[in-house]
Amino acid sequence: MNAPILSARGRVSPAELRGRKRGVPIVCLTAYATPMARLIDQSADLILVGDSLGMVLYGFETTVPVTLDMMLQHGAAVARGAKHACVILDLPFGTYQESPAQAFRNAARALAEAGVAGVKIEGGEIMAETIRFLVDRGVPVLAHIGLQPQSANAVTAGGFRAQGRNDEDRARILADARAVAQAGAFAVVVEGVTESLARDVTDAVEIPTIGIGASAHCDGQILVTDDVIGLFTDFKPRFVKRYAELAPQIATAIEAYAEDVRARRFPAPEHTYGAPKAERS
Ligand code: KIV
Repeated sequence: MNAPILSARGRVSPAELRGRKRGVPIVCLTAYATPMARLIDQSADLILVGDSLGMVLYGFETTVPVTLDMMLQHGAAVARGAKHACVILDLPFGTYQESPAQAFRNAARALAEAGVAGVKIEGGEIMAETIRFLVDRGVPVLAHIGLQPQSANAVTAGGFRAQGRNDEDRARILADARAVAQAGAFAVVVEGVTESLARDVTDAVEIPTIGIGASAHCDGQILVTDDVIGLFTDFKPRFVKRYAELAPQIATAIEAYAEDVRARRFPAPEHTYGAPKAERS
């Protein structure tokens, strides 16, 4: 494996990730705040400040209501916590689709105000011109094709179901992958596609594919961290593997605290300033 090309601040750079095609799989996770960014920083190559925060943190039913201001605040918090991983910020719905100029204006805010290394935008062929415009002006872009949550409501988008189940769909997604690679994206997230399509997409492009619900035939994997650790329990897509079940553990801890407070077992002398020494254990 090649030595990592580190950015000026010592973090993994988009260029290094771009060079990981067919190499050691790229480990990607989401974070929305400083403490989680610190916890996953050494294990992850890429931390995505995903607009999934709209559903996971804010309780929205989709990612559509997420604003750029929300993303910038969370992006800055994550960038403060990550010293190693490459931090990429999702441009939310309505902040890049209008024109390449709108996309550049908002991407520039992400880099300057949040301090992230690049942006992710959803869309294939239709976003190729915008990706080229951003990349030519110094904004690293992570593309996102296949299932695109921001447009899952659109009649043509196929909702939250796996994509690529018929020939037309497969051809469209392959064309999307080629278009974003040609436009200069450093990598592409491929979401919710069949195993055989994931393999074809990965073979078709010279940039790394980062799969989510897209089988092992990708150059890297991404999951929402809250799914991985069992903090987000509203639903669990088939492609999620839980490595911990934190939600019940947290509920048990909170119940124990509540019982202690009600029974006056907390605070005990060891938590109390000026309590007699003899009572401290
Ligand atoms: O918003 C998000 O978290 C995402 C992924 C998990 C790919 O887009």
